[in-house]
Amino acid sequence: MNIRMQNKLNLLRKAGKATILAIETSCDETAAAIVRDGRVVLSNVLYSQIEIHKQYGGVVPEIASRNHVEKLPYIVQDALNKAGMTFADIDAFAVTSGPGLVGALLTGVSYAKALAYAQDKPLIAVNHMEGHISANYITHPSLEPPFMCLVVSGGHTNIIHVSDYCTYEVLGSTRDDAAGEAFDKVARVLGLTYPGGPNVQRLAEQGDPGKYTFTKPFKGEDHLDFSFSGIKTAVINLVRGFEVRKQEYEKADVAASFQKAAVDLLVGNVFEAARRTGIRDVVLGGGVSANAVLREQALKHQGEYRVYLPDLKYCTDNAAMIASAAFYSMMKGCTAADLDLNATPGMELL
Ligand SMILES: Nc1ncnc2c1ncn2[C@@H]1O[C@H](COP(=O)(O)OP(=O)(O)OP(=O)(O)O)[C@@H](O)[C@H]1O
Ligand SMILES: [Mg+2]
Repeated sequence: MNIRMQNKLNLLRKAGKATILAIETSCDETAAAIVRDGRVVLSNVLYSQIEIHKQYGGVVPEIASRNHVEKLPYIVQDALNKAGMTFADIDAFAVTSGPGLVGALLTGVSYAKALAYAQDKPLIAVNHMEGHISANYITHPSLEPPFMCLVVSGGHTNIIHVSDYCTYEVLGSTRDDAAGEAFDKVARVLGLTYPGGPNVQRLAEQGDPGKYTFTKPFKGEDHLDFSFSGIKTAVINLVRGFEVRKQEYEKADVAASFQKAAVDLLVGNVFEAARRTGIRDVVLGGGVSANAVLREQALKHQGEYRVYLPDLKYCTDNAAMIASAAFYSMMKGCTAADLDLNATPGMELL
């Protein structure tokens, strides 16, 4: 442990204040943001590589890493410019160190370590999933734990009991595909481009969600886990069947029916978790929480529960949520990251 950096972090914790510049490069978004005291976004800059990866039908890790290296200095400078700040105004740096693509993570981790060293300021390593949860602290200034959080993203689907800041218990997880991954795979089978989620949603708007029903996984079982691979395979078989028989079908109906099946599962489990634990505050986070039908279905429980949705720009990857998570991590007494900080692609939440 670097005692001098730890002391600097401890002083910030005691003051209960910090302006944090965060870097996020866990997948295909190069992002930097400056956030004051965990909740006030002073700047939030993002360069999305979607257009680059679209032609390959998904993220190519090596290409993502190379683009992060190229774009990071400009994105960080832009974050400072937009906040009207210089490095002198920053109290601490933060960076996503996992989970994510190892090469992509390493670019951010290396850049943030160099910045922290050059500026002689502490660095806070952040778990990307804590970021997705923390996106709600930015959107809802009065939100405080305890709450039940459904994190639905490209690589994760978890029901998390957030009993305090930085204190988590995972009550349910996917046993196979993540929800976002299922959206992306169904999109591909329907001939839609990457990233699939928003395109499935758009197509589904013209379709009939009641046209096809897909068997609910784990029928009669008592746990809060998810499975999306069965629904995904049922969609693939349905579409392939139409194609083999050269039968006309409405892609929009398939998209709408799949979306309904996925959303029913997600919403059903998170509110069941809240009911079982007696928690009234239910929070959503992650890329799939941008889905309009998921948001609409969750909001139907408003009243019986207090439902919190992240602002659309904080659903998918961004650095503001990483800065927020870093602030609460600091307030909980985290250790300042050393210069040997490494990327942890398979990092768990706990
Ligand atoms: N409107 C939407 N409807 C459904 N899915 C969506 C929507 N918008 C985005 N998604 C999905 O969200 C995912 C991207 O979210 P996010 O950026 O949080 O994931 P990630 O960072 O790749 O994964 P993780 O956070 O698990 O590491 C993609 O799978 C995308 O298809
Ligand atoms: Mg993410």
